[in-house]
Amino acid sequence: MQTVYIKDLQKHENQIVTLEGWVANRRDSKGLVFINLRDGYGMCQCVVDANKVTTDEFDCAGKLGLESSVKINGTVVKDEKQLGGYEIQVTSLEVLSYSIDYPIAKKEHGVEFLMDQRHLWLRSQRQWAIMRIRNRLIYSIHQFFQEQDFVQMDAPIFTGNACEGTSNLFETDFFGETAYLSQSGQLYGEAMAFAMNKIYTFGPTFRAEKSKTRRHLAEFWMIEPEMAFHDIFMNMDLIEAMLKRTVTDVLRDCDKELDVIGRDKTLLQNIIKPFPRLKYDEAVRIIKGEQDVNGKNAIKSLEEDLAYTHEQIGIIQNEIKEREEKIAGGALKKGEINFNQNKVDTLKQTLKDLEEDARNIPQWLHSAKNFEYGNDFGGSDETVITRLFDVPIMVYNWPHAVKAFYLKRDPEDDRFARGVDVLAPEGYGEIVGGGERETDLDSLIQKIKEHDLPMDAFEWYLDLRRYGSVKHAGFGLGLERLVCWVCKLPHVREAIPFPRMVGRVLP
Ligand code: 4AD
Ligand code: MG
Repeated sequence: MQTVYIKDLQKHENQIVTLEGWVANRRDSKGLVFINLRDGYGMCQCVVDANKVTTDEFDCAGKLGLESSVKINGTVVKDEKQLGGYEIQVTSLEVLSYSIDYPIAKKEHGVEFLMDQRHLWLRSQRQWAIMRIRNRLIYSIHQFFQEQDFVQMDAPIFTGNACEGTSNLFETDFFGETAYLSQSGQLYGEAMAFAMNKIYTFGPTFRAEKSKTRRHLAEFWMIEPEMAFHDIFMNMDLIEAMLKRTVTDVLRDCDKELDVIGRDKTLLQNIIKPFPRLKYDEAVRIIKGEQDVNGKNAIKSLEEDLAYTHEQIGIIQNEIKEREEKIAGGALKKGEINFNQNKVDTLKQTLKDLEEDARNIPQWLHSAKNFEYGNDFGGSDETVITRLFDVPIMVYNWPHAVKAFYLKRDPEDDRFARGVDVLAPEGYGEIVGGGERETDLDSLIQKIKEHDLPMDAFEWYLDLRRYGSVKHAGFGLGLERLVCWVCKLPHVREAIPFPRMVGRVLP
């Protein structure tokens, strides 16, 4: 018999098919066992009826623990009420492998526990959905660049020179020489762009920052296009087109996955609007509350949100108290107790989120009010400004001192460098960093000295300016940061199959 995938059941209505998968849930009632089967493509209910299978098979079905693997034969029956619209009436069942005491139960687990079980956690519906969205984004990124004649190149992982500063390098022993794990493939990308015109890298990159924020991984995947004959403005056009394309693909092809994770799609649909482009100076005025955005003021709106948060906390605490008193009062029926208990549980979750806001907002306020002109943006500053927008914004023309050595000085005002950061809305912050590259040999040498980088390690890079240099630009998109925003995840660790960060190298 033909093994089919659950996603294709509609092609087999009223036929007998074979399914192979894992038990995501099991429920027993008299003479019946209901199995929620998942096969990696979808989920469906399989009904095992004592009268329709052998006694042995029925006994086996009743013993199946969560995540046991099974092979099921059964008739595909249309049933609108069911998950996925179809149900399987089982005709025979074979247990491939039992799973006893599966560690992840349905009850709430803490994130650290789940991260320890990451190899198993990936099977859960939410993680399944996130990984499928990640996959769609990856595919879409390749499509976008390939369709525009970019050549994909693989930059080395062992590198002899730093690209993004020396403070966060992983050092390794490379046959007796010091080598670093690549922070970025950009410098190699620039070399390849002068061979191919337009290239992009798509590979792992490493940062040894010990920051334990919701945005930082020690190992992450970066997409770095580099284009000859491009300036910063053409670069921004490309970034915008790429983000529009990838998010649109996800909205079209991952509808079910976005539903599984409960993502508000209307916010993502804003992606078709133009992305505001702000110079650093303007962005700073907005953060400090000296300039409004569409009638919204950063500082005032934070203060209002803080007041509202405190008010909500009061209301919810009262409601929890009232419901708990009702439950304790003893006059309620069992159903009413359950109803109230469920409400209390949900309210407590909401309360937790609100309390977190109540802790965060004052910090954001503090850092926004005290932002010093000339500094790079921190996580809080990014949050403050992006809360005012419903699409990604591009901040460009940064003070040259706070950005990387390779950025081109703005020919119109040499206090600035032609770098651009793209900040995702809903408080997510930087997902892309890039810019136009310095082409002037002397300025570049000067910068390498200022950054205290070893000149000899950069001689090959300087050659690119000696032999037929042209204006060029590029950027780096952090894949996990993109996944994190598109899926609205609380932390970037859920955006990658096996995260590597401070204190986490297993599983
Ligand atoms: O801004 P960054 O450091 O820029 C570069 O590496 C350039 N060489 C890129 C280029 O122009 N070719 O990093 C680029 C992006 C960031 O915007 C962010 O999305 C991501 O990489 N990123 C991280 N993602 C997760 N964890 C970290 N620790 C990250 N550091 C950077
Ligand atoms: Mg950056």
